[in-house]
Amino acid sequence: MGSDGDGFRPIQALGELVPYQWSAGLVMRGMAELGFADHLARGPLGAAELAALIGAHAPSLHRFLRVCVLHELVTAGPDGTFALTRRGSLLRTEVPSLAGFTVAVNGPGMTRPWERVADVVRTGRPASELVLGRSHWDWYADHPAEARAYAETSAALSAEAATALVRTIDLGGARRVVDVGGSPGTVLAEVLRAAPWAAGVLFDLPWAIPYAAAALAAPLEEGRAELVAGDFREAVPAGGDVHLLKNILCDLPDEDAGQVLRACAAASAPAGRLVVVDWEDSACPSHVHANDVEFMVLTGGRARTGDEYEALLGRAGWVTVRRTRLAGFEQAPVVVLEGRRVIDSTEGPS
Ligand SMILES: C[S@@+](CC[C@H](N)C(=O)[O-])C[C@H]1O[C@@H](n2cnc3c(N)ncnc32)[C@H](O)[C@@H]1O
Repeated sequence: MGSDGDGFRPIQALGELVPYQWSAGLVMRGMAELGFADHLARGPLGAAELAALIGAHAPSLHRFLRVCVLHELVTAGPDGTFALTRRGSLLRTEVPSLAGFTVAVNGPGMTRPWERVADVVRTGRPASELVLGRSHWDWYADHPAEARAYAETSAALSAEAATALVRTIDLGGARRVVDVGGSPGTVLAEVLRAAPWAAGVLFDLPWAIPYAAAALAAPLEEGRAELVAGDFREAVPAGGDVHLLKNILCDLPDEDAGQVLRACAAASAPAGRLVVVDWEDSACPSHVHANDVEFMVLTGGRARTGDEYEALLGRAGWVTVRRTRLAGFEQAPVVVLEGRRVIDSTEGPS
């Protein structure tokens, strides 16, 4: 390969490989951080006017706006003004989940490990330790601004799923629900709203605990909720009759996932239930395949098929009694599994 003679056209090939695509997420992050979508939402503006409004260097902003055109975030008019596209309008601050999401998922803690994606593929090991010198979650402990963006994003993105979840599972008999890795608290808050007779424990790493307090303010005040810090691979709070794992197993390799599931089994009442909500892998092209590689790069986790989740549960002392989808989101690649403990004959009734 390498010459015009055999049909290879380097300049054309560069166009086909769209090498600027790598920076698409970072362009979106820059646009969200600069906050100019709000101004353009009121009408098209020239770079100089926009620069004055956001306090930017006008010639640099002009150049940046042109790459935003390339990513279809804005359009350039014949009069030199720039207008917001539908995609760009998702970065307005009135759509906080998406502006914050764009900042959070394109922050260094998420993007830098991707620099070593080829090594991850070669070795089968995640790159966070290698690139950041610590695990993905420890990075947040040391970078509060990024941690806050991540927590706010999770809160916004989990809200819809939380409402769907309480319509999917029967909370009738729940007395004490332990949300394992439950920060920022959106899901537990919704569970406690739907089951006002129940109490809840939110368990997460120390860095994540403060971000859960806002969502759980009312039940904390009423004494119906507790925030507990710890590492779920070692132990989880005992005394729960429902242990909830939402988007936890996808971030863990099989061995760690097994540890968490066994910790839940050890902490659960004999008649206790496990509820797993997670990304479901499939053969069809799906955005889950992008999430899956992200888990591979950042944490060593993976998306799994429903059968694979069931097998994981089975090896850790749980039998799956129900496998379903989130009510109202049946087409989404998300699986909900309910497990019951495999009762040891030496255990008494709960
Ligand atoms: C993908 S988030 C899911 C959050 C929440 N369950 C939801 O769906 O909105 C994973 C959570 O697991 C927590 N986590 C990761 N490793 C943990 C560990 N070893 N022990 C306790 N929590 C952990 C993280 O701090 C984070 O809050």
